[in-house]
This record gives sequence, structure tokens and C-alpha cells, in this order.
Amino acid sequence: MKNLTALVTGASRGIGKGIVLTLAKQGYNIIAIARNPNGLRLLKEEIEKNYPVQCLAFSLDIGDLKDQEVWFSNHFPALPEIDLLVNNAGIAPDKRSDILECSIESYDKVLNTNLKGVFFFTQKIAQRMVASIQKDIKKDYKPRIIFITSISAITASPNRAEYCISKAGLSMTSQLYAVRLAEYNIPVFEIRPGIIMTDMTEPVRSKYDALIQQGLLLQKRWGTPEDVANCVKSIAEGNFDYATGSVFEISGGFSILRL
Ligand SMILES: NC(=O)c1ccc[n+]([C@@H]2O[C@H](COP(=O)([O-])OP(=O)(O)OC[C@H]3O[C@@H](n4cnc5c(N)ncnc54)[C@H](OP(=O)(O)O)[C@@H]3O)[C@@H](O)[C@H]2O)c1
Repeated sequence: MKNLTALVTGASRGIGKGIVLTLAKQGYNIIAIARNPNGLRLLKEEIEKNYPVQCLAFSLDIGDLKDQEVWFSNHFPALPEIDLLVNNAGIAPDKRSDILECSIESYDKVLNTNLKGVFFFTQKIAQRMVASIQKDIKKDYKPRIIFITSISAITASPNRAEYCISKAGLSMTSQLYAVRLAEYNIPVFEIRPGIIMTDMTEPVRSKYDALIQQGLLLQKRWGTPEDVANCVKSIAEGNFDYATGSVFEISGGFSILRL
């Protein structure tokens, strides 16, 4: 069994669950984070029933810095070294509304969860990764960090401006950590999913069904959590260690300009 641990946020459903199951299959021990304890309990049961790995699950709201503070002081010190951090937790606005009507509440909620919370969460984990490397705490320790952003980082949807802004900011966050952590040989990557079939896209399923059929994507199908998880797996295997700061778009060819 590998002595490797992956921490994945937003692990209980959708893309995060796909990532966690793929990594568990690869022999990673899992630290799973989400808000709903029931989803986490089911995930832990599924992992430990099917794979010979350990799954520690924590209920934590990434968008709540006070909640994070409590988690970092109560739980983090006892956890094993983190070999792979996957910042996946994220939310869409509760309701899509035009940029001219976007409320302060929705803006704050989405930005706190998708950007501010992830920025500070990563900061604490990165500090420990650096300290562990400097103190040579774990043999052959080679941590990596992944940010799950979105094609919305580079695609303007004025009916969910706060989401697009959060993902554009997260894309820069990935670049910034790539620059800062390079001297410690910690590679940082951004994965930009396209249109992926999960709970998040359930409310817009028929709209995207039609757009996909009309040729929005080069590959005429919805993406799956496994499509994203396969990219994470390849990064985790070290295949892109000389490509820190790279952006992987998993979108069926969404962003190729065509005429
Ligand atoms: N689906 C897509 O088409 C698509 C496309 C591009 C990018 N993305 C991005 O991919 C990531 C995953 O999306 P998804 O489609 O898998 O979403 P999803 O099906 O709604 O699942 C979101 C996951 O994140 C957790 N979560 C949400 N808010 C959280 C918070 N504040 N703190 C901790 N955990 C939280 C959820 O569990 P709890 O509810 O229990 O907290 C759940 O496990 C997001 O960052 C999203 O923006 C998705």
C-alpha cells in the first residue's frame, strides 16, 4: 500500500467524489472535506469497503474562515503529511441573475467559498508542506497542489458574474502559488472543467443538452467527474512535475475559437 495521502475538498459529491474514488483506487489514503456530514459518512463507507485505504472525513465550510480556524487548530496537526491537495469545493450562485441585478449577498457567498476560503485554506496547507520539506519530515516527500477552476475563468456569463469572477481569481491564485512554491519544488496546477454532469449542473441540464447538440463542444457529450479525475490521477503520478503552473482544460474542446 502507498504511504500517500490526498486531501480533497468538496469530496462528497460530483467531481470531488470522482477524484477521491480514483485516488483511493490508486492507493491514496483520503482526507475528505465537505459540509454535509451524511454525504461524508456515505463516502467514507464506500471507500473503506472497496479499497484498502483509510478515509478521514471532516465536515468543514471552506467559505467560513472561523470554521477553518477551528479545523486547523483542532484537527490539522494530527493529520499525516499531505502529498496531494485538490482544491475542488465550490458553489454556483443559488440563483442565476443578471450582472445588473447581482446581489451583495450572492457575490459575497460565492466569492467567500470559491476564492477567499480556498486562498487561505491553501495558504495553511502550503505552509505545512514547506515546513515539512525543510525539516525533512517524510522520506521522499513530494507534495503537489491542484486547483479546480472552470472554463468560467475565461468565459463571460453575465448571468452569473460572481461565479466567473471567483474562478478567474482562483486561476490567478493557482499561478501565484506556482510561482511562490517553485523554490520548494512543489508543482501547482489548474484544472478547468467544462460542462460536467453533477448536481451543480442539474438545474441547467436541458439548456446544456441543447447547446451540446448544437455544437458548443467539439466532443458532443457531457463531461463526467471521471474525465476530471483522470487528469488529477495523471498529475498525482508525477507526469507533469516539470510543468508547474500548467492549465488543463477538460472540456471537450470548448474554448477553441472557430470560424
Ligand atoms: N459541474 C460542472 O460543470 C463544473 C464545471 C466547471 C467547474 N466546476 C467546479 O468543480 C467543482 C466541483 O463541482 P461539482 O459540479 O462537483 O459540484 P457539486 O456536485 O455541487 O458538488 C460540490 C461539492 O463541494 C462541497 N461543497 C460545496 N460547498 C462547500 C463548502 N463551502 N465547503 C466545503 N465543501 C463544500 C459539496 O458538499 P456539501 O454540500 O456537503 O458541502 C460537494 O461535495 C466546483 O469548484 C465547481 O465550481 C464544475
